[in-house]
Amino acid sequence: MSLIKSIESVDVLFGAKYGDEGKGKICNGVSDSEIKTYYLENKDALDKSSYITDFIDGLLGKKYDFVCRWAGGDNAGHTFFVNDKEIKTSLIPAGVFHNIKSIIGPNCVVNISTFFKEIKMIEENGFDPSLVKISPKAHIITKEHLEIDIENKKKYGSTGKGITPCYTDKIKRVGIRAKDCEELKDYLWDEELYGNILCEGAQGFYLDIDYGNYPYVTSSTTLPYGACSLGFPPQKIDRIIGCSKIYDTRVGYDPDFPKSLLEDEELSQIGEVGHEFGTVTGRKRVVNYENLDKLIYSLNVSGATDLIISKCDILEKVGVYKLYYKDELYVFDSLVLMKEFIVDKIKSSCEMIKNIIFSSSPKFI
Ligand code: IMP
Ligand code: MG
Repeated sequence: MSLIKSIESVDVLFGAKYGDEGKGKICNGVSDSEIKTYYLENKDALDKSSYITDFIDGLLGKKYDFVCRWAGGDNAGHTFFVNDKEIKTSLIPAGVFHNIKSIIGPNCVVNISTFFKEIKMIEENGFDPSLVKISPKAHIITKEHLEIDIENKKKYGSTGKGITPCYTDKIKRVGIRAKDCEELKDYLWDEELYGNILCEGAQGFYLDIDYGNYPYVTSSTTLPYGACSLGFPPQKIDRIIGCSKIYDTRVGYDPDFPKSLLEDEELSQIGEVGHEFGTVTGRKRVVNYENLDKLIYSLNVSGATDLIISKCDILEKVGVYKLYYKDELYVFDSLVLMKEFIVDKIKSSCEMIKNIIFSSSPKFI
């Protein structure tokens, strides 16, 4: 039981805002040609554009031994392409699509029927389902949890996947765990982690049970520190990669995102062009301009070392360059000016951030 030292490094990918920041696509190495990177420690390298490939390939090129989910359940939704084929997952980590062991961690909640649906999909697409393992400590979402969650769906716009009732039973210490389930016995993971590990976040910073707009939150820890529940010490963390879009979106009820935003013409256009619909629920996401204050706070509390800001092309297509900073709306004449402003403010406010990467939408949105 003392194999901790055989862990070489851990990278944690997390959503810096409200989920739906493109974590799945980043995790799967999808990039585009128009990426501009700002090396904050070396101003001369500003605008060097090759870095994203190094970064993504660097991540996957590290030859991860594990890709792990640390929280949540099938309320998450990842859409990405493998060999030009669209893949959607909600529970199983992306590693399996790269022939890497994929672990659903002890602090996750598992809907058995979703799990086996995804296992079947993995098989049908020619990947190896035996790479997928569940911690015996993970909790199981029951039919009763799904029924109770109907109320949360009405009240809070929850996804209705039974997440809150399952975590409630866990905390009440009456839950059912993966190790109690006969059907999961071939998929249980009861060994130690080793080598290089990539932790794949679900949801985002402002959906966190402590840091979100409570009670309009999810019931788990979405901040990168939560990844340590997988069974490694925080000292092993190498990079913490925050993902954000260049505008904000929110799905589910949140008074910070009033429905009146849906009536704003420019914001609606961003939502249309950016195809802002939930992966799991198909619901229209409420769009607002980037709140830079919230991004800075999220990066600082999370300890992010790298930041990926995606979907910059959407603003260019709509021709709107706006963000909130210090509670004021700033309007820019071009994307370049807006990016420079973002880099400048993050550079002066987030001392842990080393790189900011701006990316466009993947080709398939
Ligand atoms: P729950 O996680 O289903 O309890 O939902 C709680 C809140 O988090 C709702 O507002 C959901 O819309 C939101 N939420 C949960 N998972 C995701 C996600 O993966 N992306 C975006 N929003 C999410
Ligand atoms: Mg998602």
